[in-house]
Amino acid sequence: MIKKGIILAGGTGSRMSPLTKAVNKQLLPLYDKPLIYYPLSVLMLAGIKNILIIVNKGQLNQFKKILPIKNNLGIKISYKEQNHPGGLPEAFLIGEDFIGSDNIALILGDNFFYGQNLSSRLKKSVKLNKGAQVFLHPVNNPHLYGVATINDKNKIIKIVEKPKKSKSNLAVTGIYFFDNRVINYSKSLKPSKRKELEIVDLLNKYKKGGRLKAGFIGRGGAWLDTGNIEDFYNTSSFVSAIENRQGLKIACLEEIAFNNKWIKRKEILEAIKFYGNCNYSKYLKKFLV
Ligand code: TTP
Repeated sequence: MIKKGIILAGGTGSRMSPLTKAVNKQLLPLYDKPLIYYPLSVLMLAGIKNILIIVNKGQLNQFKKILPIKNNLGIKISYKEQNHPGGLPEAFLIGEDFIGSDNIALILGDNFFYGQNLSSRLKKSVKLNKGAQVFLHPVNNPHLYGVATINDKNKIIKIVEKPKKSKSNLAVTGIYFFDNRVINYSKSLKPSKRKELEIVDLLNKYKKGGRLKAGFIGRGGAWLDTGNIEDFYNTSSFVSAIENRQGLKIACLEEIAFNNKWIKRKEILEAIKFYGNCNYSKYLKKFLV
């Protein structure tokens, strides 16, 4: 069972420069909330209450300002800094003490997931005892992603990073579930040509032992990457369209905590005070009646 999660929220955000010159990508607004709310909401939907957020050196205070006081969500948030963006598996080196002898979920700070049954799919994934699991989702442009080939038992038999040609259109998304071996495997990785530890190399260690499973968000679900400006604004419009049509918010952290019975009326009132007079607070008032 996985009870701990890491959000990797550093990076240079070079593709979104100059927006990311002074502000980290995860702090930019994705429609009506900072981007980091979305991956945080995904971990909370999975039932994970113990969360480590890894940020760039020097940016900790900005994150602490933007995130609600942790007691108002009924979860435990801790922070660590990454000196340089040295690759995704660094999360398990920086987070070694946090992980201890447990299994762990990792979500990338700029990944957006939405869809029917997402919570129940995530809750199944956190039951992982041994091995690793990734979520795959079909994409139109597999050459931009890590791409997986699966067998009829949903075991991954091949992963290629940004293939020039690929029969598979299943991209590896930015949420991963690992057993405790991930720490030692990460320690054994060597930096690639671009001088980063590569998540594909880490996944290949699990794949070699036949211990890498595939999960799916499903055809009705959305996985949107917010790494470049076009995708960022498309995702923002997606959130705006859904929220305004339904009158329900995506990634309202307090709503998720309330529905999970982690917080009560008192914490909602505290949250309203924290946010001040805005639409997000107006939405939270619904839970007070
Ligand atoms: P990337 O999209 O690979 O990198 P980036 O966000 O720095 O953007 P760019 O490619 O435009 O320079 O990273 C995916 C996510 O992981 C993103 O949320 C940043 C985070 N990340 C870290 O926190 N540390 C790292 O070492 C790396 C490589 C990424």
